[in-house]
Amino acid sequence: MPQPVYLNNAATSFPKPPPLGKEVCSWLDALPFHAGRSGSPARDPLQSCRQKLARILGVADPARIALSRCATESLNIALHGLRLKTPTVLASAAEHNSVLRPLFLLRRMGRIDLHLVPCDGQGRVRRGEWLRLTKELRPALAVLTHASNVTGAVNPVTELFSAVHESGGLTLLDASQTAGLLRLDAGELQSDLLAFTGHKYLLGPTGTGGLYVRPGIDLDPLLTGGTGVRSDLQEMPPEMPMRLEPGTPATPLFAGLAACLDWQEQHPPSRPSMDRILIRLEDGMRRAGAQVIAVSGPRTPIISFTLPGWETADAGLALEKGFGIICRAGLHCAPLIHEALGTLPGGAVRFSLSRFTTDDEVDAAVDAVRRMLHGPR
Ligand SMILES: Cc1ncc(COP(=O)(O)O)c(C=O)c1O
Repeated sequence: MPQPVYLNNAATSFPKPPPLGKEVCSWLDALPFHAGRSGSPARDPLQSCRQKLARILGVADPARIALSRCATESLNIALHGLRLKTPTVLASAAEHNSVLRPLFLLRRMGRIDLHLVPCDGQGRVRRGEWLRLTKELRPALAVLTHASNVTGAVNPVTELFSAVHESGGLTLLDASQTAGLLRLDAGELQSDLLAFTGHKYLLGPTGTGGLYVRPGIDLDPLLTGGTGVRSDLQEMPPEMPMRLEPGTPATPLFAGLAACLDWQEQHPPSRPSMDRILIRLEDGMRRAGAQVIAVSGPRTPIISFTLPGWETADAGLALEKGFGIICRAGLHCAPLIHEALGTLPGGAVRFSLSRFTTDDEVDAAVDAVRRMLHGPR
């Protein structure tokens, strides 16, 4: 069996930057530290992680970033915690289940009226439809993924969220697929709330994520419990970030994420080289006979496709078991987008690259697909 080729970075990135393992282990081996409770290292790893995240997200006050386990947790904190002026909520058909399922639950509980804007054949939300519905419905909240996790198509967030602000609503951006990959600025992106994950393109460990909350917005906490300080209060303290961070935090993991962010700052990825490898893969896949979902305009390094004569799930399995190509096949936790892509019921196979993906790796993936479609050369 050849060396595995990892093309599942949109799920979680691999490999991680060299300092990650060492940094996490050093915190596990050290005397426990918990801000406001015990230990007194010169620097608080959670605070320093928030500061670095604030720079990446274009946020002035790091205290407005609550750390969480993952984007799913952040999105649930936002969606369950907002006290909306009216029940009208707008979202797109490109959303991940970490947005859709909380919204469907809130709808079943009678707390929201949900309107979903369809996507085009590239997985981008239909701009005209979004603007029309925003004007007509004046949603109290609009939720949108920055980029589709199925096709990589980046949404024109600033324009779409500006319209929501003009009609008096709040905005929540799911930046899971773009944080660490695109330049983000919560203000420029007109995002009142911004959810992100640490383990994808920020290159950190699983178990890390966070939520930016614009000053002036107060969320009811999803979880309540100990904060180490102000223990006399019956409810969670009002101050951010502690209001949204009950319980003992995963300090070693956030120290590790901070080390990854430092490493990325010192070793910025080469975007032209990532784009070149993505095009090499896409061209190769088309020549091999794969039906690639075409995406024009801004995009993340994802190629999704189907293979004539193959069930999607079987193709994913064959790529992994037969050729060592680790990828993702199916609906990718984004069930609604597939209608517009024409990939129901089975979904698509997805190759997602990272800054570490090489020419040889994408060539191996193309070769595997060629052999699956045409047999050995
Ligand atoms: C667009 C999008 N949103 C949210 C998530 C959830 O991220 P996490 O696994 O960190 O909860 C993902 C993960 O695949 C995603 O692609």
